Amino acid sequence: VLTNAPALSDMFPESGDRLAHVDISAWADLFLIAPATANFIGKAAAGIADDLLTSTLLAFDGPVLVAPAMNDRMWANTAVQENVSRLRERGFGFVGPGKGELACGDAGPGRLADIEDIVAAVEEAVADKTAISGKRVLISAGPTREYLDDVRFLSNPSTGRMGYAIAHEAYLRGADVTLVSGQTSLAAPFGVRLISVTTAAEMADELFAAAPDSDVIIMSAAVADWSPKRMPGKVKKAGRTEWNIELRRTKDILAELGERKKNQTLVGFAVETENEIENARKKISEKNLDMLFVNNPNDFGAAFGTETNRGYIVFPDSVEEVELVGKDELAGILLDRVERLLSDG
Ligand code: CTP
Repeated sequence: VLTNAPALSDMFPESGDRLAHVDISAWADLFLIAPATANFIGKAAAGIADDLLTSTLLAFDGPVLVAPAMNDRMWANTAVQENVSRLRERGFGFVGPGKGELACGDAGPGRLADIEDIVAAVEEAVADKTAISGKRVLISAGPTREYLDDVRFLSNPSTGRMGYAIAHEAYLRGADVTLVSGQTSLAAPFGVRLISVTTAAEMADELFAAAPDSDVIIMSAAVADWSPKRMPGKVKKAGRTEWNIELRRTKDILAELGERKKNQTLVGFAVETENEIENARKKISEKNLDMLFVNNPNDFGAAFGTETNRGYIVFPDSVEEVELVGKDELAGILLDRVERLLSDG
């Protein structure tokens, strides 16, 4: 009555209507939960969807803002604080709680933030548009596995950390992110469409299918350059003293994306143990790239499987050195440069 807007509470509306939780989640620019109870925060952290509110939240992939309100000892409870941290890690924003007199008569932190502050936080979250917001970003990550037989494969030590960090950061900047990932031990980043693959050929298929609808493509996967002919079953050792494996070149996915490129920003990665910049420049022109991050795994802090990296961001006509940084920070630096390319057109 007060808002003169529809208020929904039924999970399954009368026949003929669309499913509310799917419809609203596709329509909304931002999801605000105010007031958010300790119970709601716990359910959201656990991914429970047992009512209209929590189901809509699970179906929503845009920015989420939470304004908690509860008793001060409930707010201070470790379970609640752990749930809040989990949600923050997934990119949820929080406004409040404020300090002051609570509904239960106690005083302390737990009070719903002032309405003005909640409105300001919503405005900030919605206005926070950067060049990559709304852009379709396709990212590859992790290693591929090339099978020798049914139980053995060739692979590499890539953890996927870099690509997952870029995917998470791009999501936080409002991009529509698809992540094509080889087998890793990482959890799917929140809000990102994850396509899981195993071999270089599968990765190529998924990327070529998604590429035409992408504005930015970032190829951070450690794709195998060589693949063996797969033997059926499990190869027995009886009667063999040697197993000679013949390897064939896989497709150079990045080079092919470069050939097919139309109006896209294409970013590659390269590992070089010498003449990094010179070799990177060659790859940029040969593969028709807009930007390439090159690192030398023999440099301190830049080895495969570490949490850090350092190297050079190479453009067709300039180079920038990146000092030793964590992979999350590097993801931010790389996306800043991608955004500059997008803004320059
Ligand atoms: N890459 C790819 N397809 C492959 C191999 C690599 O798309 N079959 C991509 C990687 O994701 C990375 C870039 O190519 O973005 C560079 O990979 P790198 O191994 O450094 O170089 P190559 O181009 O494979 O050349 P070389 O190994 O001869 O240095």
